[in-house]
Amino acid sequence: MADQPFLTDIKTIRERARQHIERGAVTEGYRADRENVINLLNEALATEIVCYLRYKRHYYMADGLSAHIAAEEFLEHAQQEQQHADWLAARIVQLGGAPNFSPEGIQTRAHAEYVEGDSLKEMIKEDLIAERIAIDSYREIVNYLGENDPTSRRIMEDILAQEEEHADDMAGLLEGLDRLNQSNA
Ligand SMILES: [Fe+2]
Ligand SMILES: [Fe+2]
Repeated sequence: MADQPFLTDIKTIRERARQHIERGAVTEGYRADRENVINLLNEALATEIVCYLRYKRHYYMADGLSAHIAAEEFLEHAQQEQQHADWLAARIVQLGGAPNFSPEGIQTRAHAEYVEGDSLKEMIKEDLIAERIAIDSYREIVNYLGENDPTSRRIMEDILAQEEEHADDMAGLLEGLDRLNQSNA
């Protein structure tokens, strides 16, 4: 491997860094398809917004049912989905793109769905399903990014890890609710 050095020589890196400085964080060495990455991150952004809205709706509805433990979980998740949306929007701008916050078509761009749910059980179930959709689609985005855009990949990995926690929380709530219903029967 002597003819293939591990690093590009520093002189080349220095010369390249001086070109196209208006591109900011996007350097010559950026290997991913930038447009494609921005589109994928915008789809993830739409997913986060839909999840934020759904959890907010569920928070207020569960609070009305005096289901305080579930309501607290919904609220915490809503706040975390909003944080995810912010991380994604900031990264899209770093890549020279524009975050799409337009309400028009947001449900089409999003992977997860906005389902209101008629009962507490339905709400939890729909949240769990939405998390499972996000988990699978985010994992695919992580794999797609691979070594070509490690920063976007890390952001998606951090979000993915939290969606897995969310799914686990919802599965726990659902189980607790089932046990409660059984003991009341
Ligand atoms: Fe999220
Ligand atoms: Fe989530």
